[in-house]
Amino acid sequence: MDIDDLLGRMSLAEKIGQLNHPNIGGADTTGAGTASNNIEARLRAGEVGSLAAGAPLPRLAELQRIAVEQSPHRIPLFFSLDVIHGHRTVFPLPIALACAFDADLVTRTARAAAVEGAAAGVMLAWAPMLDVSRDARWGRCAESPGEDPFVGSVFARAMVAGYQQDDLTRADTMMACAKHFAGYGFAEAGRDYNMADISPYRMHNVVLPPFKAAVDAGVGAVMVGFHDLAGIPCSAHRELLHDLLRQRWGFDGLIVSDYTAIMELIHHGVAAHEKEAAYLAFHAGIDIDLVSECYSRHLPALVAEGRIAEADIDAACRRVLRAKEKLGLFDKPYRGLDEEKRLAVTFTPAARALAREAAIQSCVLLKNDGVLPLARDCKIALIGPLADSRANMQGTWAVAANPDDSVTVLEGFRAAFENVHYAKGANVVDDPDVAARLNVFGETFRVDPPEALLAEAVARAHEAEVVVACVGEAKEHTGESSTRSTLELPGSQRRLLEALVAAGTPLVVVTMSGRPLALSWEDRHANAILHAWFGGSETGRAIADLISGAANPGAKLAMSFPRDSGQCPMTYAEPPTGRPAGQIGIDVAGDTERDARGRPVFRKFTTACRLEGASTPLYPFGYGLSYSAFVYGDVALDRGEMDGEHAVLTASVSVRNTGTVAGREVVQLYIGDPVASRSRPVLELKGFQKIALAPGESRQVSFRITADDLRFVRADRLAAPEPVFEPGAFVIGIGGSSDRLGTKTVAWRGDQR
Ligand code: BGC
Repeated sequence: MDIDDLLGRMSLAEKIGQLNHPNIGGADTTGAGTASNNIEARLRAGEVGSLAAGAPLPRLAELQRIAVEQSPHRIPLFFSLDVIHGHRTVFPLPIALACAFDADLVTRTARAAAVEGAAAGVMLAWAPMLDVSRDARWGRCAESPGEDPFVGSVFARAMVAGYQQDDLTRADTMMACAKHFAGYGFAEAGRDYNMADISPYRMHNVVLPPFKAAVDAGVGAVMVGFHDLAGIPCSAHRELLHDLLRQRWGFDGLIVSDYTAIMELIHHGVAAHEKEAAYLAFHAGIDIDLVSECYSRHLPALVAEGRIAEADIDAACRRVLRAKEKLGLFDKPYRGLDEEKRLAVTFTPAARALAREAAIQSCVLLKNDGVLPLARDCKIALIGPLADSRANMQGTWAVAANPDDSVTVLEGFRAAFENVHYAKGANVVDDPDVAARLNVFGETFRVDPPEALLAEAVARAHEAEVVVACVGEAKEHTGESSTRSTLELPGSQRRLLEALVAAGTPLVVVTMSGRPLALSWEDRHANAILHAWFGGSETGRAIADLISGAANPGAKLAMSFPRDSGQCPMTYAEPPTGRPAGQIGIDVAGDTERDARGRPVFRKFTTACRLEGASTPLYPFGYGLSYSAFVYGDVALDRGEMDGEHAVLTASVSVRNTGTVAGREVVQLYIGDPVASRSRPVLELKGFQKIALAPGESRQVSFRITADDLRFVRADRLAAPEPVFEPGAFVIGIGGSSDRLGTKTVAWRGDQR
């Protein structure tokens, strides 16, 4: 396809049509009352470039036929959809999958999602979501790879590889879209859509690395965040979109608005009307208007008035046409629109087996006093509102899933254990109004009289050898616009746990949610806690595998679990501060001595300034237990002094499984930069390796460290990042959790000039 030739033949209106992604039903979300109700007529007129894949395949094929047979230049449509963690087969939530610390697993789930999604007509997937999330109150942390930019970058590459597979003309691929550019995860107080006031320094060192990784991996599209970034809504942020993403990073794919976000510039208070909103968004660098119709209505006039150059419309349209070319649509416009093929590749045994494996790898064992695993013949009281809940297991953003597909924990347990007795015990939420709002699928949020539920559960607990309580949030407690101000178990579920503890039977708590919870009470009282997130289609079997010991937990937290809701936001990668946490006082003499991790050691005290525990998480980033026991040897560096930016350091450690069962351990490498021109985080994850060890087996694990791992970005302006390597002493930490590291210090000199 000669794109330039095609462009040369298109009218301005047709070119603008390619930038328009209206709602498929033609529903007018803006209330402005337009011709958008007649999508077919608009297709014939060349006013539409893309649509959501949210319709049955025959309908999508019909729309495509109109585009390729009746529109002015026969330009095919592309269809988009949110394929976030699987399609019909649902994999664990992204935050859960990130806890597997396994890039290959992420790629395999993304590939399986692409097979199903592409066969359902999805050509552009609105994923991966790459918002670094440090505030558990924010409901969209469920969709994210968690708090760490390194993990986020690994996740980004793995997802893009799985969706795009290096050749988008293949029928089992989807173009990926990195979102939400950028900083949406830092919404103030975790309230969704709230402003995020982020310095360029933090943007470049924390927020942007996963996006940069996606761009470098060839992601086809980037979706712009809804939020306002220090006073400028991202949808109007030229420095972010044009100067940085387009020019500095050289991104030549599609920049897409979020859903109606261009019109929302009016709500943000930076545009008085739609025309100004269209101008601001286009000028900032957004190619495609998702649903708001501001482009289709106002770009023609803006070009006529000379405020927008037609050459810039051409450039945006060229990018859309190129994306269609990359997808092979000019040759095969009906790719993925074959119902028979869809049925053949959807919800296959192989995909379900992968969902089970992924769910097993995503559950994090937070506590175990030895009660787990449970024997097959042990008498179990399986209690809790999430134990026999199906639709909830899929978690948020499972738009193509069938709510009846998931395996419940009760079903998983009945297959894995001989003696299981179930009682609901509590409602997820007791307030019928809240339940009604969460009640997407009837059965899930039925509100029963709490007292009767409790009495039945306690009776079951008394009869059992062990209680397994499945408690947590409803799936709709997380996801878009689902903020919570408390991270404790909702409704009367804590009261249920208190009654179960009082019954005296050993208590295993299985928690489910799309966010970290505050589990201090549960940590004190339960014998074991397994955090299962929402594991997707095979949740029930995966949890039974872990509780029975058929599988061994090996996941680690990708997001810190606070002790208390009031600690949010939090991260292990905190700055040292002038009065470091855990040190009660300040060093009045100023002759700061440093510990092995480079933190100042204080000897002379003045005022007490921190309360015990207020600064540390309950379960830190990188933490997670196993039925095996892993013992780390001392960290060894092959050299203590390094010369120049091309030097390569090898850091290694021996890890031994001293337990009695085979297990997997995520060996984590952290680096600290105690003295630099900017205050640097106490530690930053720079590498990890997931290893499998048989009982008694020991392995030497090595990490290759270069000056790139020591670099950080100085930035006074967003579009002017300055990556720097500052020679000096660096702390190299290796261990099985961010709070349990062996460390060594290396002196790294700069290049001699
Ligand atoms: C969300 C996006 C999503 C889009 C399309 C928006 O509300 O913020 O993440 O891709 O809707 O469904």
